[in-house]
Amino acid sequence: MCGIVGYVGRAEAAPILLDGLRRLEYRGYDSAGVAIVTRGHLETRKCAGRIVALASLMTKQPLSGSFGVSHTRWATHGKVTDENAHPHFDASGKLALVHNGVIENYQALKEQLIQGGDTNFRSETDTEVLAHLIGKLYDESCASTVDAPQKKARLLTAVRTALQQVIGTYGIALVHAEVPDFMIGARRGSPLVLGVGKEENFLASDVSAIVAYTRDAVYLNDFDVVALERDKFEISSLAGEIGDYRVSKVEFTAEDIKKGDFRHYMLKEIFEQPNTVRDAMRGRLSLEECTAKLGGLNMTPAQLRDVGRIVLTGCGTALHAGRVGEYLIERLANIPTEVEYASEFRHRNTPITPETLVFAISQSGETADTLGALRESRRKGFRTLGICNNVASTIARESDGGVYMHAGPEIGVAATKSFTSQLVILTLLGLLFGRMRNLSTSEGSRIIEALEALPGQIEEVLNLSDQIKAIARTYADVNGVLFFGRQFNFPIALEGALKMKEITYLFAEGHPSAELKHGVIALVRPDLPSVFIVPDDAVFSKNLNNMEQVKARKGPIIALTSGNGAKQLKNVANEIISVPEAPDCVMPILTVIPLQLLAYHLAVELGRDVDKPRNLAKSVTVE
Ligand code: G6P
Repeated sequence: MCGIVGYVGRAEAAPILLDGLRRLEYRGYDSAGVAIVTRGHLETRKCAGRIVALASLMTKQPLSGSFGVSHTRWATHGKVTDENAHPHFDASGKLALVHNGVIENYQALKEQLIQGGDTNFRSETDTEVLAHLIGKLYDESCASTVDAPQKKARLLTAVRTALQQVIGTYGIALVHAEVPDFMIGARRGSPLVLGVGKEENFLASDVSAIVAYTRDAVYLNDFDVVALERDKFEISSLAGEIGDYRVSKVEFTAEDIKKGDFRHYMLKEIFEQPNTVRDAMRGRLSLEECTAKLGGLNMTPAQLRDVGRIVLTGCGTALHAGRVGEYLIERLANIPTEVEYASEFRHRNTPITPETLVFAISQSGETADTLGALRESRRKGFRTLGICNNVASTIARESDGGVYMHAGPEIGVAATKSFTSQLVILTLLGLLFGRMRNLSTSEGSRIIEALEALPGQIEEVLNLSDQIKAIARTYADVNGVLFFGRQFNFPIALEGALKMKEITYLFAEGHPSAELKHGVIALVRPDLPSVFIVPDDAVFSKNLNNMEQVKARKGPIIALTSGNGAKQLKNVANEIISVPEAPDCVMPILTVIPLQLLAYHLAVELGRDVDKPRNLAKSVTVE
């Protein structure tokens, strides 16, 4: 959600900032801008639209200089216009600020500034108010002549003083025309990482923006303020105390975030799943004890045994993984498990018993609602663990422990590989908790065998891509798609519908199959196909009844089945997609992939921007 890139060094800043923005575009993409200090003057280029629009503006009107800030926006305050695009400036026009997050009290701050005589606001944004406030404090502190080091110190003090007045969240980067080769960053609630280079330093909201230039990173904590120059940086608190930091090596390289031969990141990520699923279980299976080993939980066997209740929380796709987890953990471990939207969890007075374990599931580890739920849960004293992909993320750092997905960077806005990695981890949790209770060794080893078979089976599912593409072509002019499934595959119906909505913009809904007759059946008509997820399992015949009900009302049916299912569906379904057999609890990992492919191929057929669908952002760091 919004991307920030800042540079201070010896090279031309513009190409580095633009390159970083391109890599961050998945975080937000309604407008973009750059501000660079050129020979003591602050110059900016910004416009509504994608980075490509900004790049072409900068080709026509180039900027030169070796320090500056840039931003790609996902609008929260103010419409998508050139004026509202970042960077924003102070009243003097000498300070440029980019911001990710929401300044909740910006109206009150603006009123104060207006009362003080500052009426020169050019945008509707909360960010501009912060820029004006910092600029005013800096100008006041420099009323008498000051030398260069004093200017740096005063700018830093102005930033701290302004941020102490802010209610809300921010990740910011700013430069000032009067303070050369100097940049300030700060964070509260929105991620910010410092990239440490040789005679150059970077700021970004995500390391993927800067990994092509340096793999040495310092992940800032909330309330950190960082002052960067070419050859040094200093991290301090909002109160001005010099802080400690650790330089980490970024796990991936710039190569890992390239599309390779794939047309879209989403397709690349779908096809990475044999490997990412393998990586999610690598080193975590114990054949001897028929269980899973998850040292990152930081829990003793006795603590694991005494868990009496589990709450799984997250947003979007991660929440759907949690819904599968609910079935899984209850089936394998018989522990009462609940799934709660993160945004609801934190504001609701959910009765939680002392032996409750809370899991926050998040690919990015930065989703504001999930982070809020994690903090609320920890505040109440519950052990709260993370299931994250991004190792250095805020959720990963603030939780009491957890399990990493190790899925590599996920760039496509619609989550795919992170979902199947989450499902593997939830299966491992079910296995671990189950084996601490009543799950037998033979049941345990059956689950392990099923998990180990998955990478090969996923390869088989990926071979169905052309068949699914043909189906997508057949149904390219439909008005929407319904998805139905039962038990472990009910959440897969939800996830199939979410993928469809996100990237095709078609109306799509997922329901438990049997709910069909309680309302949804009124929607059934010839131009609204129903996708039924009906593996050959214990509820197959019940699903079959529901399919007949749709067929009787002339609704087209796309059936996703396994094993002998195809034979039995011949006369009911218009299209049949068949995946390999697996125990019902791991089946969702196989059934979701054809639905990812169906949404993908249909979106391509409809000419949609698959990796950057309208109005969405990959990592939603505002509430
Ligand atoms: C956004 C994305 C979704 C994602 C959700 C949760 O809404 O568009 O694809 O599932 O955030 O993201 P997280 O990083 O917490 O898993």
